[in-house]
Amino acid sequence: IPVEDFDLVIFGATGDLAHRKILPGLFRRFEAGQIPETSQIIGAARTEQDDDAFRKEAEASIIEFGGVKKSNPNLAKFLQLLGYVPIDAKGDGGWEALKSRIRDDKVHAFYFSVAPALFGDIAERLANYGIADEDSRIVVEKPFGRDLATAKALNATLAQHFAEHQIYRIDHYLGKETVQNLMAVRFANVLFEPLWNAQYVDHVQITVAETVGVAGRGSYYDKSGAIRDMVQNHMMQLLCLIAMEPPYHFDPNAVRDEKLKVIRALEPVENGDIVRGQYQGDGKNGGYLEDAEDPDSRTESYVAMKVRISNWRWQGTPFYLRTGKKLRARTSEIAIIFKEPPHSIFDDTGHPKANELVIRLQPNEGMNLKVMIKEPGPGGMRLVQVPLDMSFADALGAEGADMPDAYERLIMDVIRGNQTLFMRGDEVEAAWAWTDPIITAWEDSKRRPEPYDAGSSGPEEALRLMHRDNRRWREIR
Ligand code: BG6
Repeated sequence: IPVEDFDLVIFGATGDLAHRKILPGLFRRFEAGQIPETSQIIGAARTEQDDDAFRKEAEASIIEFGGVKKSNPNLAKFLQLLGYVPIDAKGDGGWEALKSRIRDDKVHAFYFSVAPALFGDIAERLANYGIADEDSRIVVEKPFGRDLATAKALNATLAQHFAEHQIYRIDHYLGKETVQNLMAVRFANVLFEPLWNAQYVDHVQITVAETVGVAGRGSYYDKSGAIRDMVQNHMMQLLCLIAMEPPYHFDPNAVRDEKLKVIRALEPVENGDIVRGQYQGDGKNGGYLEDAEDPDSRTESYVAMKVRISNWRWQGTPFYLRTGKKLRARTSEIAIIFKEPPHSIFDDTGHPKANELVIRLQPNEGMNLKVMIKEPGPGGMRLVQVPLDMSFADALGAEGADMPDAYERLIMDVIRGNQTLFMRGDEVEAAWAWTDPIITAWEDSKRRPEPYDAGSSGPEEALRLMHRDNRRWREIR
């Protein structure tokens, strides 16, 4: 369904995110017929250049990162929507010129694809120059603060010029198709919800494993680490969608209210329930310390933790989270491990194994439900566990294979004015309020992260986190 035509300004338009994600994403939505040709996409950044130069730059990125052919006739049409205004975020240069480009009667969105230190300067100028009005939307990227205090300060800065309903805080995980599917699976089926609680679920495993290291972005990452970079935001969002109560309606505040309740119900993580790791080089490839360039860095590139949710639904069912760089495979999944059947009526075949529902977020998006059946053959009643495996690409054909990138979906939601898949200010603050003590306790301990080999499944210590509870991690593959 096409959106209304709009004026979108991308601050930081010459940066990495704009080139890798935002522009290719917009092109794909244009090609899908969702963006009217009367829309404008205006790049704004410090570089002095004109519309044509920006169009050339954008063309090259869409070809490189969007996998689009130069001869694609839609590409030339799309480039006509683009314009550029050089701007001084901290001064007066360019703001009048930007104002003259913005049309009063269109939807306005302003994408802050810049360092958070500039959020305040840009927000203030958008307001003071009369460029933004009360219907305008602003889009901000992570990192949204580095602790509760800085997140509060950022929220306060933005609130000086924009109301909460105008602020779209991106967590790109919420734009992933399969992440949204979590809500469909839970709330559009009758099968799962009755079992979705501590009575039937033994534990939950959330894994986001990456094969990439931090080379190239070591200076950012080293000040952040896996907890700030992945847990406070992406993992927390996944946990919320799994753990939350059914919202009364698929409505932005109804959904976000439920997520917030989960975050507030998280118990503090005890020191013994968390393992940090740092990947080591293997002679050929550098380790974390080389990639981060600080030979003494104690920043973690891997974290595994046991999380407890103190509420009626989840009391007694732990959630185990792990994420890391330079692991064996790139795989993100959520596994719901159910309890074993209470009693076996089959004598000589062993106890039936617990059911597992695995939701694969990436790659190869899909779902897999492990169930017990009888092993075929005349040899008596022998049980075997088999997967009911559904790959979305197979089940949905071309549509399943061609899933939109998270950014495509989220930018279109901004234009539509739908905040459901964006984080509310209080949600971000609650997430920091939970992670802050974990980070402080670690910094105070002055300990080093456990080393793990690049290409492995993470540090040995993380295995013990599970073993001591008589459980085990699913394999990363
Ligand atoms: C980003 C983190 O937010 O998410 C990166 O800063 C991480 O460190 C990335 O690699 C993972 O995203 P995806 O979509 O590749 O799973």
